[in-house]
Amino acid sequence: MARDSLKRSAIAVAFLRAIATNSSDTKLFEDPYAEFFLPKRYGWLAKRERFLKRFARRVEIMESNSQTRYRRQFWRIMTQVLLRARYTEEVLHNRILEGVKQYIILGAGMDTFIFRRTDLLQSIRVFELDLPSTQQLKLRRVERAHLDVPSNVYFLPIDFEKSSVVDVLKASEFDPKLPTLIGWNGVTYYLPKKVIASMLRELSDYMGENVEIVFDYADGRLFNRSLSRWWQKLLRYLYRQTREPLITGFDLEELESLLEESGFTMVKHCAGKELGDLYSREVLGIFQPSKFMHFAHIKGVCSAGKSDTEINNVA
Ligand SMILES: C[S@@+](CC[C@H](N)C(=O)[O-])C[C@H]1O[C@@H](n2cnc3c(N)ncnc32)[C@H](O)[C@@H]1O
Repeated sequence: MARDSLKRSAIAVAFLRAIATNSSDTKLFEDPYAEFFLPKRYGWLAKRERFLKRFARRVEIMESNSQTRYRRQFWRIMTQVLLRARYTEEVLHNRILEGVKQYIILGAGMDTFIFRRTDLLQSIRVFELDLPSTQQLKLRRVERAHLDVPSNVYFLPIDFEKSSVVDVLKASEFDPKLPTLIGWNGVTYYLPKKVIASMLRELSDYMGENVEIVFDYADGRLFNRSLSRWWQKLLRYLYRQTREPLITGFDLEELESLLEESGFTMVKHCAGKELGDLYSREVLGIFQPSKFMHFAHIKGVCSAGKSDTEINNVA
């Protein structure tokens, strides 16, 4: 896949966050920095009152028109993008109070946490991992906006499909013995299952009980060709909107056995709309959650440096 298209998805997320910030029709996510990471014309558009009103109206019209099923689902999936970011930072906040010292953002894209949440940044180190091209674009935008990168933030370039995430962390200031939260939002969709499985295994072997991960993933039914043609059509519609093939999703059972094999246990799982149920209507506003994207919060259970098999063999 062209790596440039992955950069586009990171920008699309920032555009959505800028719209949500400027729109009076939702309180889901506040990100005054999002616009700095957009091409100039999009930054301008995301602030235009008329565009925001039209955007809100379109979403509402779609809610009430059965002819627009695919579009409506697309916009609901966009809601999950905002929901997952908000919820992840709430989890991080709580975990910091309990002692988490490091936050890794896998596939960080144009995430602006390091500029927005100076309150949380004081107590942790942050490691942003992403494709070199996405990261370079981000750093150019940081420079363009004259933003200062705090000294406890580290940018680590990596292609998850080609390099080991643990090797990259080992070569940095990262300390596997400190309690760590990993945010892995908006990325599993684009990675082959075997890459996801080996990343989980590696992270659990390296950090054991010191690691928790929050991530979102697509519903496995989107990729099951024997199910209704409607799901297949929705997948094609999503591809036409983003030009980025979603290649991976999981059924809950499959995910649970993957987690068990990789040395993780589920802390919390929000299937589809359950994530939206955590917030009031007033907060969600024009945004309605989707049933196609799920959210998981998992925790390492093995001792660091030992896989299950090794532990069993010792026992
Ligand atoms: C949809 S964006 C999500 C950005 C951010 N996590 C968020 O939720 O706003 C997907 C991100 O994953 C990154 N990504 C995709 N495939 C990757 C890979 N093989 N290795 C490293 N990063 C990857 C892209 O560069 C992009 O920044």
